[in-house]
Amino acid sequence: MTVLPHAELHLHLEGTLEPETIFTMAERNRIDLPYADVADLSSRYDFSDLQSFLNLYYANMATLRTAADFAEMTDSYLARAARGGVRHAEVFLDPQAHVTRGVALEEVMDGVTTALACSLERHGVSSGLIVAMLRDHSAESAMQTLDAVLTLGTPLLGIGLDSAEVGHPPSKFVDVFAKARAEGLHVVAHAGEEGPPSYVWEALDLLGAERIDHGIRCLEDDRLVHRLVAERVPLTVCPLSNVRLRVVADIADHPLPTMLAKGLNVTINSDDPAYFGGYLDDNVTAVRDAFGLDQATLTTLATNSVDASFAEPSRRTALLAEIASAT
Ligand code: ADE
Ligand code: ZN
Repeated sequence: MTVLPHAELHLHLEGTLEPETIFTMAERNRIDLPYADVADLSSRYDFSDLQSFLNLYYANMATLRTAADFAEMTDSYLARAARGGVRHAEVFLDPQAHVTRGVALEEVMDGVTTALACSLERHGVSSGLIVAMLRDHSAESAMQTLDAVLTLGTPLLGIGLDSAEVGHPPSKFVDVFAKARAEGLHVVAHAGEEGPPSYVWEALDLLGAERIDHGIRCLEDDRLVHRLVAERVPLTVCPLSNVRLRVVADIADHPLPTMLAKGLNVTINSDDPAYFGGYLDDNVTAVRDAFGLDQATLTTLATNSVDASFAEPSRRTALLAEIASAT
């Protein structure tokens, strides 16, 4: 199902590893998986919360060993995303999750950046990389990671903050985000997924976050909503993720319509599509069908995604023209 041209702004590359790919890579790298087969693995995708998902997400990364594995993962995502209408992608990568299990940072970055470098030519998707810091690791580890990717000279759009949210407030990472900003990088942060609205305030005030990933719990704080609306801070919302991780009970209970009605700058994204039941087009289709969204609203969501991206001005203009001509 193709939807209007979009920019995808909240996508974890490691969350695009499909069960079949996990088995192919495990075989190639001679890694024993603790699952009988693809069906057995897939049967474990019934998550109770963010942590229950993260446990499986990190475990399955063990199958990624070589630059070729990272390149294949990235290229497969770009191909699938392009088929669903994605025309620009700003993707997250969790280097700490690979380096801590003995994979060289060079191997990780080489694979991902090689695939991203030809994304426009191969798939018609412009792209950029956001290195996400694991908030349940130390601030020192995040600083070492930033220093290491800067030393490598990896082409980088910015840094983000992800992993287990509750108990790991943005305030823990003030120094690393200040350094990233001083280096001219963009900064974004997951906040208000499972964590409280105070984490969104901290991400804005202490980290200088330009976008908030998820952010749906902002609705519990009227003053915060007022600020987000006034400053047009983009919120990268992931509806199917929110259902699968039980942030909301059902797609029909998702606060997207309320967020739009309040004038929040919402975009639709897929988060970890291989785990949550769909890519960007599936997410757009799910909310369109659940809420009967009209064409004007779908156009707003697509336009918001391009406006909220860090794409070059000429690329933004081209994508906005594509959206306008498709409606
Ligand atoms: N890492 C991968 N997916 C994530 C999510 N939805 N929230 C926090 N960290 C993540
Ligand atoms: Zn995420």
